Amino acid sequence: MNNVKIIELPKILDRRGNLSFFENCNQIPFDIKRTYWIYDVPGGEIRGSHAFKKSHEFIIALSGSFDVVLHDGTKEVKYSLNRSYYGLYVPNLLWRRLENFSTNSLALIVSSIGYEEDDYIRDFDSFKSLKDESNK
Ligand code: TYD
Repeated sequence: MNNVKIIELPKILDRRGNLSFFENCNQIPFDIKRTYWIYDVPGGEIRGSHAFKKSHEFIIALSGSFDVVLHDGTKEVKYSLNRSYYGLYVPNLLWRRLENFSTNSLALIVSSIGYEEDDYIRDFDSFKSLKDESNK
């Protein structure tokens, strides 16, 4: 869980409306290969509930709010995201779920790899065994 961090993005305040940004490798610690977003989430739904073998992600609540719950095989930590000028850096090999989405929330996620189903660990017990093995 050590490398997980909230990253503040540049914020250009302007009375016409504010502006924030991130660039490849500048504000976030990996090369961006893919961008996707999660939207129109019905109340009470949960997204995620898996880990990635290789991919690193950066998650921003571009609009509204939601929680990112991370589990490293031993403990669970919850991050509430609710501003468009910061995001959560999530390294690989952490179980993660996104929940508690507000109405009209928009989750923007950038990933360090293209979409590969093989990169997913979708079974928590397999994830836990992998972590237990690597901690031996
Ligand atoms: P998935 O990552 O499993 O969603 P969740 O956020 O609930 O974990 O993705 C759902 C489906 O969307 C999955 O069948 C594959 C597809 N998908 C892509 O084709 N490309 C992508 O970049 C992502 C993230 C998902």
